[in-house]
Amino acid sequence: MLNHAIVSVALALATLPFAVQGAQLAARAQDPICEWIERAISSASNVYYPGDALYNKGVAHWATTADQVSKCVVEPGTAADVGMVLRIIGGTRTPFAVKGAGHSPNPKFASTTGVHISMYRFNNVTYDADAQTADIGTGLIWDNVYDALAPHGVNIVGGRVPGVGVAGFTLGGGYSWKTNQFGLTVDTLVAFELVRPDGKVVKVTHESDPQLFMGLKGGFNNFGIVTKFTLKTHPQPEVWGGPIQVAADQIDEVTDATVEWDATATDPKAQVMTTYTYAQGELHMTAFLFYDGPTQPAGMFDRFLAIPNHGSNVNTRPFADLVQSTPTGASYGFRGIFNAFSVLDTTRSLVDVVINETQYWGQQLSAKTGIITTYAVEPFLRSIYSHNTQQTAFPPTRSIPFLPFNIYYAWLNSTYDEEFYNAARVSTKVIVDAAVAEGQRGAADAPLYPNNAIFDTPINKVYGANIPTMRAVKRRVDPANVMGLAGGWKV
Ligand SMILES: Cc1cc2nc3c(=O)[nH]c(=O)nc-3n(C[C@H](O)[C@H](O)[C@H](O)COP(=O)(O)OP(=O)(O)OC[C@H]3O[C@@H](n4cnc5c(N)ncnc54)[C@H](O)[C@@H]3O)c2cc1C
Ligand SMILES: *[C@@H]1O[C@H](CO)[C@@H](O)[C@H](O)[C@H]1NC(C)=O
Ligand SMILES: *[C@@H]1O[C@H](CO)[C@@H](O)[C@H](O)[C@H]1NC(C)=O
Ligand SMILES: *[C@@H]1O[C@H](CO)[C@@H](O)[C@H](O)[C@H]1NC(C)=O
Repeated sequence: MLNHAIVSVALALATLPFAVQGAQLAARAQDPICEWIERAISSASNVYYPGDALYNKGVAHWATTADQVSKCVVEPGTAADVGMVLRIIGGTRTPFAVKGAGHSPNPKFASTTGVHISMYRFNNVTYDADAQTADIGTGLIWDNVYDALAPHGVNIVGGRVPGVGVAGFTLGGGYSWKTNQFGLTVDTLVAFELVRPDGKVVKVTHESDPQLFMGLKGGFNNFGIVTKFTLKTHPQPEVWGGPIQVAADQIDEVTDATVEWDATATDPKAQVMTTYTYAQGELHMTAFLFYDGPTQPAGMFDRFLAIPNHGSNVNTRPFADLVQSTPTGASYGFRGIFNAFSVLDTTRSLVDVVINETQYWGQQLSAKTGIITTYAVEPFLRSIYSHNTQQTAFPPTRSIPFLPFNIYYAWLNSTYDEEFYNAARVSTKVIVDAAVAEGQRGAADAPLYPNNAIFDTPINKVYGANIPTMRAVKRRVDPANVMGLAGGWKV
């Protein structure tokens, strides 16, 4: 009887388009908060529901570990509409998410089962030649920003590889090809346009509110939703550099070159990053070389250039082209996790531990649908934290010249998520313990970069001594803890 009734209803719906449409409207009506938002926002903004193409775009992330099914996607088009959404969400205590470009692989950081806010429409880039700053919207990826600034011959301190979102990158710190020269992206911030949790749109500068300005420089979504950054610009000539792919038989040479670079480099226009990757049953390395000018000073990178390689894409080129030349390993659509581990020196013995970890976990995790296991060795100059006299939420200390190394794992089957997360925790601990054991004692206390740290990293490892100040700001701008309804790093 029951089956028969269901079949009848299904047949009735199938033959009556009007009824089907009615059923879809009924499904929409299931979420009154989304409907309320839809009615309250201006025509510059939209709400999308499951089944809409722009819903799928809105809830997508770089790594599928970060995906969740939300009730609706809100694409606000004005800061005032963001404020309206926050007022409705706060008043109804609705769980929500705010997504820049969705590049954090951490589950629930930019996703929700409630109302998902995607910032795509904040996509303007405005260069102010007099002030030597650029206003950039928080829905952009760095590729767009570099393309928009290139005609002006200027650039800002931003992302190194294609596709990365400006919002999370900038709100968490920002390690760039230009960091040896200018510090982190947070060190180049002049102002924020912030939608406070009470819905008010405010401009935040050091002068207007030094503590909130400090908190936003590393504090992600703790204090509201940022709609615009004003960042310092710098003249951008053509640059020299790109990636060199090196096979396992040259591991000693590329490692010794990296270790020597770390011990001897002094030119802030130059930068090197070496990654150790296990994929398809093999270990291989990529050395990324960068010089902020059209030619490398004679001899500077000779040791890297002399290594027999199986792919080199090192050239004089526009900055945006250098960014596009950088292979990112596994790209969109895999399960993924990063973890951060900070060390103080790139010694040969420590990199040997990194290499062993790459190989060991690469092999272990291949059996669990692992497809790529990468460890990045990033020998920045020890002066990178000296480019800002103002306090920033991250890094919480500028007196430890730590290097923000990181790992990235990608895999296919969600059954193994916990095993990958656990490996990422265990492996970083092995390396930091090894650093401490070889005399890098400060490594144990060095901050962990929140854009790379795994989701359950203790908050004091990220913000350290800044936590009391950040909490005071939080109590002031968000007494009802509206932002606590969204995921991410929470003070
Ligand atoms: C391939 C790849 C390469 C990378 N390379 C680098 C690198 O070279 N240097 C580096 O420093 N980092 C790098 N990262 C890390 C990167 O900085 C982070 O993943 C960053 O969070 C990406 O920003 P997003 O806007 O895409 O983040 P999302 O995943 O969208 O958001 C991250 C967090 O920021 C919050 N957030 C987003 N937008 C807003 C907003 N408008 N207001 C308030 N809070 C907001 C979210 O709620 C979430 O908690 C890389 C990541 C990937 C995947
Ligand atoms: C982007 O710039 C255009 C043109 O100035 C403006 O109309 C629009 O409101 C801006 N969008 C945002 C989100 O600021
Ligand atoms: C390699 O790493 C694994 C896992 O951390 C460890 O058990 C093993 O002893 C290491 N091997 C060497 C030679 O260090
Ligand atoms: C994931 O792994 C589990 C356990 O081995 C298996 O049962 C399942 O079929 C796998 N899923 C996919 C999509 O391969």
